Amino acid sequence: MQRNSDQPILVTGSTSGIGLAIARRMAEAGHPVMLHGLATASEGAALVEEFQQRYQVSCGFSSADISTDEGCSQLVADSREALGHPAVLVNNAGVQFTAPAHEFPSDQWQRILSINLSSAFFLSRELLPNMRESGWGRIINISSVHGLVASENKAAYCAAKHGLIGLTKVMALENADCGITVNAICPGWVETPLIQPQIERIAQEESIDMEQARKRLVGAKQPLAQTTKPDAIGSLVHYLCAEHAATITGASLPVDGGWTAQ
Ligand SMILES: NC(=O)c1ccc[n+]([C@@H]2O[C@H](COP(=O)([O-])OP(=O)(O)OC[C@H]3O[C@@H](n4cnc5c(N)ncnc54)[C@H](O)[C@@H]3O)[C@@H](O)[C@H]2O)c1
Repeated sequence: MQRNSDQPILVTGSTSGIGLAIARRMAEAGHPVMLHGLATASEGAALVEEFQQRYQVSCGFSSADISTDEGCSQLVADSREALGHPAVLVNNAGVQFTAPAHEFPSDQWQRILSINLSSAFFLSRELLPNMRESGWGRIINISSVHGLVASENKAAYCAAKHGLIGLTKVMALENADCGITVNAICPGWVETPLIQPQIERIAQEESIDMEQARKRLVGAKQPLAQTTKPDAIGSLVHYLCAEHAATITGASLPVDGGWTAQ
């Protein structure tokens, strides 16, 4: 019998941060893993080798740029060639840019919407038919607290992350009869390269060191003023893929130190 842990998983943006932690957790559980992100072929090959040796699972790598529909199709083709049809899709790749809406550059708006939101739609649209046919699948969208509440200077990011939660709910309803669940995870501050520029900016603007700036950044929003470790998100993805999570669908799960409880 096919076990959940035999199912191939595609994690977008898994060369760094949260995506890499998700890929590690799922490989540790025995899933064949498709790694993906903006890395060179040799960096990708080194990561694949490291995964195969450490976790003893099949692995592939693609550096497809998923800011376009064609790039998403390329990633699906690379994944199928390496591992067969992915039965678990984690839409994790994301980028950030901050500026007030009245000064927000058009190219940054398009870039954030295409990578953080449209890629999740294009990839899901390509992978859902096989999941539906097989009667099992998991789609997990890495949204953000900014999918639930707003912060200044994040017009594009908030629009994309709120949109991702809407997309999650629609796909959950449409596929509820096929053994497929679709959920969103909404992290607060997670310790990854994505938040570094924001810490550096506070350190510079307030002439304080990086540790003080990190505390300032996190404490300003989270009552529990502690960053989440990327592995915590990996473990939640693992939980959502297990059979006991079969009825969790259409949910948006905050992992945010109480940010959205206020
Ligand atoms: N770090 C946080 O505090 C935090 C909080 C909430 C939500 N998130 C979300 O979690 C996800 C991962 O964030 P992270 O902090 O691990 O970021 P990160 O910067 O560490 O990693 C981003 C990944 O996305 C890939 N990527 C970026 N643009 C791409 C493109 N055009 N094509 C292909 N791959 C691309 C990168 O190569 C990398 O692998 C994002 O969606 C982010 O919005 C992060």
